[in-house]
Amino acid sequence: MVPPPLALYVHLPWCVRKCPYCDFNSHAAKGELPFEAYIDALIRDLDQDLPLVWGRVVSSVFFGGGTPSLFPPEAIDRFLQAASARLRFAPNLEVTLETNPGTAEHGRFDRYRAAGVNRISFGIQTFNDQALQRLGRIHDSNEAERAVKLAQDAGYDNFNIDLMYALPQQTLAEAEHDLERAFALQPTHMSHYQLTLEPNTVFFARPPQGIPDEDSAWDIQEYCQRLLADAGYAQYEVSAYARPGRQSQHNLNYWRFGDYLGIGAGAHGKISSGADQHVLRRWKHKHPQTFMDHAGTAAGIGGDEVIGADRLPFEYMLNLLRLHEGFGLKDFTSRTGLDPARIAVPLQAALARGWLTRDGDHFQPTELGRRFTNDVVELFLP
Ligand SMILES: C[S@@+](CC[C@H](N)C(=O)[O-])C[C@H]1O[C@@H](n2cnc3c(N)ncnc32)[C@H](O)[C@@H]1O
Ligand code: SF4
Repeated sequence: MVPPPLALYVHLPWCVRKCPYCDFNSHAAKGELPFEAYIDALIRDLDQDLPLVWGRVVSSVFFGGGTPSLFPPEAIDRFLQAASARLRFAPNLEVTLETNPGTAEHGRFDRYRAAGVNRISFGIQTFNDQALQRLGRIHDSNEAERAVKLAQDAGYDNFNIDLMYALPQQTLAEAEHDLERAFALQPTHMSHYQLTLEPNTVFFARPPQGIPDEDSAWDIQEYCQRLLADAGYAQYEVSAYARPGRQSQHNLNYWRFGDYLGIGAGAHGKISSGADQHVLRRWKHKHPQTFMDHAGTAAGIGGDEVIGADRLPFEYMLNLLRLHEGFGLKDFTSRTGLDPARIAVPLQAALARGWLTRDGDHFQPTELGRRFTNDVVELFLP
């Protein structure tokens, strides 16, 4: 089993305030944030995980959150320097930083760029100012556009915009208007997420009025898929669309069942263990203070779980079937170490139901299969 590509995820867990729909590991900042102490903890955390990945090349780094753009560029720079002294970075390393437009200041993007960040992901959600308020966002649509322009002035041409659809009271025309305002900014990548009510959020406890039902949400999705395609953004995953060659390398690596280290509060990592057909999943303490108190020691690890051969086909499909490109049987074997005979029965069942198509050794989800991804993936449960 040749080790798959390796990525590095870095979690930065604070936000200006908590959005009522969000179940990410993000915490409203109270007072001064301990940027330096947190970067120190990240480096200790990385040091502890290094033996898992000795000698391997890292192909992407992703600063996710929370709101990574709350961190000063100098802090990001210090982490990247420490990481490059410890890991082998690929020459064409993709380095993404998630940004809330409400935290974009003049001059910051130049310095993120100098630190090595070469891709920005903006959480914009919608350009409708009333909707932004209902979503508890800290910025309006003009600020969102201004943030993108500041990044463009600093030389960023490779950037993503996150939009959500099926917002409370949203019409088809409003969803279209959001896309048009996004297209005008010329992003290379768009993430188009259906608003979901997640347990343990304010919206889950008190759902806002007028959330479109499943059929209306599906209509918005189908319509927007067409608009995105017409504007030159090819869908390559459930919620991800890109201009040619501009897919997120970091996210593609997750969905192709690649390996990743997860550093920082609540971060999850996945590392394949060569010959013995298993995968190690490791996660870190969720709470930022607990994480900082213990990072780099055995007590800093939230948990380790070994995924054995019986569960690997399911975990593989859970990721691969999100992708339009599908998978080959050779890819399956090289990522899991398993013989394709292990999945012959569920593959046959998925073909028979019209959920997958087959071309030689390559399988792709059909439109029907993509609509019922959960049912397809369930076929591969142990
Ligand atoms: C970590 S945030 C992005 C950066 C920054 N925190 C922000 O919000 O601007 C990741 C993205 O997930 C999406 N998201 C979060 N909660 C969601 C939910 N309940 N339903 C759909 N999308 C959601 C949003 O589009 C958000 O931009
Ligand atoms: S800013 Fe982003 S991460 Fe923070 S609470 Fe809002 S959606 Fe979640």
